[in-house]
This record gives sequence, C-alpha cells and structure tokens, in this order.
Amino acid sequence: MKEFQQQHGELITNHMVETVDSLSMPSNLKRAIIYSLQAGGKRIRPILLLATIKAFNKDPLLGLNTASALEMIHTYSLIHDDLPSMDDDDLRRGKPTNHKMFGEAMAILAGDGLLTYSFQLVAEDKGLTNDNKIRLIGLLAKCAGPEGMVGGQVADIEGENKKLTVRELESIHEHKTGKLLMFSVLAGGIISEAPEEQLQLLEQFAYHIGLAFQIQDDILDIEGSEEIIGKPVGSDESKRKSTYPSLLTIGGAKEKLQFHLKEALSSLDQMTIDSSLLSEIAQLIVARNH
Ligand code: IPE
Ligand code: IPE
Ligand code: MG
Ligand code: MG
Ligand code: MG
Repeated sequence: MKEFQQQHGELITNHMVETVDSLSMPSNLKRAIIYSLQAGGKRIRPILLLATIKAFNKDPLLGLNTASALEMIHTYSLIHDDLPSMDDDDLRRGKPTNHKMFGEAMAILAGDGLLTYSFQLVAEDKGLTNDNKIRLIGLLAKCAGPEGMVGGQVADIEGENKKLTVRELESIHEHKTGKLLMFSVLAGGIISEAPEEQLQLLEQFAYHIGLAFQIQDDILDIEGSEEIIGKPVGSDESKRKSTYPSLLTIGGAKEKLQFHLKEALSSLDQMTIDSSLLSEIAQLIVARNH
C-alpha cells in the first residue's frame, strides 16, 4: 500500500503540474495554481480512484486524468476554504496559504481556474469512451457542486456558533468531505465498467470512509500536531464549529470512527473484487496522524 501510495502520489503530482504548465495563461495565475498543486497533500482521493480501478483488475493509469481533475477540485476547495471570508487560515500543508502568498483575488481566481480546468481535463481525455466521460463529468459536478461539497461548505459556515444535532453534523460531513471521496471510488468503478450492484456497494463503502475521514480531521484539529498536520490546530474551536468531538467528546468521536471503519470494511467484504488495497486505505484514513 505504502508503495502504491508513494508511486501514484508522485505520478499525480507530476501529471497535474506538467499539464497546467503546458497551458497558456497569465504567468501569475500559473504560479499561484502550481504553488498549491506542489504544496504537498496526501493525495488520498486520486489514490483511492486509482486503487479502485486496480481492485477491478484494470490498468490504474486509465484514471490518471480523472484522478488529477479530482485532486484539482480538492485543491481549489482548500484554497477557498482558507480564505479570510471562510476559515481564515494562514497555513496549509505546512506552507503559507495561497491568499497569503498571492493575495485574495489571485487565490479566488486560482481556485476558479482549477475548478473549471478539471472538467476540461476529463472532457479532453483520449483514453475514455464518450459515454464514460459524460458520466464522469456529470458525477464530478454533482459531487463537487451545490448538491455536494459546495452545499456542505455552506451548511458548515451556517452551522458556526450553533449547537447542531449529530444528524445535522453528519449531513455536513457527508457533503463537504464525503461527496468528493464518493466520487473517487465511483469514478474508479465507472472507468472499470463495474456492474451496477458493485457500484452500489462501492457507494456504501465510500459513505462510511467519507464520514470517517472528516471525523478524524476533526479529531486532528484537537489532538494533532501543527507540524505534522501542516495546518493550524484549534481552528474549529476558534470558529465555534460543531464537530464530532465537540458534540460527542473525543472518546465518542473515536467510537464513531471505528463504527464507520467497520461498516466500510463490511461493504468491501460483500464485493467480488480484490479489495485488499481499498481496505488498507480505509484503515489508513482512520489511523492517520495528518
Ligand atoms: C482536508 O483534506 C480537508 C478535508 C476535507 C477534511 P485532506 O486531509 O485530504 O488534505 P490534503 O490534501 O492531504 O492536504
Ligand atoms: C473543509 O473542511 C472541507 C473542504 C471542502 C475544503 P475543513 O475546513 O475542516 O478542512 P481543513 O481542516 O481546513 O483542512
Ligand atoms: Mg472549512
Ligand atoms: Mg478549514
Ligand atoms: Mg478541519
């Protein structure tokens, strides 16, 4: 797994940077975009996408452009999430945030550029069938847009300074974080031409790892070390956000985390694929320290 992660993480970074570098655009925009693409990050979403293709015994590289597009959308979401009008954070992936380096206007536009270009990248992929491209573009838009991550970010902001119920918080997590993770595995399934019932099991798996991922993010915001997570600790509390630890205590949040891991693994057990890599990734999501 470590080997798969390292190899494919580097491949994704190089592919994203080389692709953007080959485009014609204002040089300051290019610098701002490449800064955030090169700033590190675990690449968990593209790795999940490629690992899903491998689980279906197909060539992971078939998903290289789609995985890069997904990571670009994730990167845009972080650039905008850190803006002063949103979480107002100065540190991301151990480096100054995009707006700290390039100013707010450029950070907004670098995010817009990454978002828009990601759809172009899938549309121009010569290795995918037209049917799959339309399916992937539609699903990516749904998962990233108002019904997905963007909707979740709005609910997250509107939930500040309020005590939410666990169900409300779950819905925020499911959207702001879960939907892009959902796209990771479903896109891998689509590219592998997986049958419908396998896609449904993948969706269940993704639902649980999505929640687990954000619960661990909330825990790390309290228990993590700034040096290792590469972003400020205590950001949620200072914004008076409801989080799993704030609603359920740290112990309760950790119990929920284990519950979602168990459910995720049991969805995989029902599948007829080689799920060893996906199960290792799920366990890594829960055990990660950054
Ligand atoms: C951070 O995502 C934002 C959340 C959705 C919790 P990651 O933890 O995947 O961030 P990077 O890409 O590794 O920096
Ligand atoms: C943001 O969640 C999720 C996104 C869609 C960007 P957080 O605000 O908790 O992410 P971090 O902790 O800043 O990475
Ligand atoms: Mg946020
Ligand atoms: Mg944030
Ligand atoms: Mg967080």
